[in-house]
Amino acid sequence: MRTYSRQQRKSDKKIALVPTMGYLHEGHLSLIKSARDMASIVIVSIYINPTQFAQHEDFDVYPRDEEGDMHKLTTLGVDAVFIPAKLYASAGTSAASGDDAGNVVGAVEHQKGAHETFIQVEQLQKPLCGKSRPHFFRGVATVVAKLFNIIEPDIAIFGRKDYQQLLILQRMARDLDFAVEVVGMPIMREEDGLAMSSRNALLTSEDRRKALSISQSLQWACRAVEERATVDAEELHDAVATRVSEAGGRVDYVEVVDASTLEAVEDASKQRTLIAVAAFFGSVRLIDNIEIT
Ligand code: PAJ
Repeated sequence: MRTYSRQQRKSDKKIALVPTMGYLHEGHLSLIKSARDMASIVIVSIYINPTQFAQHEDFDVYPRDEEGDMHKLTTLGVDAVFIPAKLYASAGTSAASGDDAGNVVGAVEHQKGAHETFIQVEQLQKPLCGKSRPHFFRGVATVVAKLFNIIEPDIAIFGRKDYQQLLILQRMARDLDFAVEVVGMPIMREEDGLAMSSRNALLTSEDRRKALSISQSLQWACRAVEERATVDAEELHDAVATRVSEAGGRVDYVEVVDASTLEAVEDASKQRTLIAVAAFFGSVRLIDNIEIT
């Protein structure tokens, strides 16, 4: 992969990377189309990264469709697809399938030779998804740093659906002097408003219907602030949480935060505000957010 990418660089070509975990949908494809506009070489990576899943999470059932993905990518005419079978060193024959850190692959200090280096963006990883998935952003930052080092892209493109992930990766690139511009793109939604996600495929049709409460309540909250019906963060929080749980979702969090620091705000009209939601429908955890500017 590095040889290919360095060859492109030698001929002065600008490289854009779109990292994914596959099972590609229009959300992913929109990132790839933007990449095309921003660079002459587009590389897509597909890797279900074990370090961002805890042992009890959905690594084993995460949807996979390599053939379908390759078909979509060929149609879009991407220049290269990077599908590593394995990105982490393991301890010889006793490859880690679990460890004390609770990750599918983690800080396996007792296993000689295994991967043991991780990146943590200390403050930004704490709120929102970091609270209920404390292992998550460490895994994401680490795998994306590895991809940056392997591919050495000029631009890397991520979706704003995973808003906290985007902020964390922008901070990582800045703090560690990666020569990569980390760019965020808008959330792509189904016609009825549900944010596109590979995990939507795991929803029953009833849960799929219930899950609409997330985007609907976020849109409601955004309107409420724009029309000055309420700008009170606590009121917005309660209204969104109630709507999602009344629809049958199990709310993980609803947060009303400053969109650049992710710190809680009291008045949603004073600064660029983000309302972010994570909720379970059945065993499927979905996230979504809306920016109020
Ligand atoms: P994955 O969930 O496959 O998402 C890959 C990229 O697609 C991410 O940047 C994500 O924000 C973006 N994306 C997903 N749904 C979207 C939507 N509805 N609209 C716009 N963009 C969307 O995010 C990951 O993979 C992983 O954490 C990864 C960054 C690849 C590291 O393993």
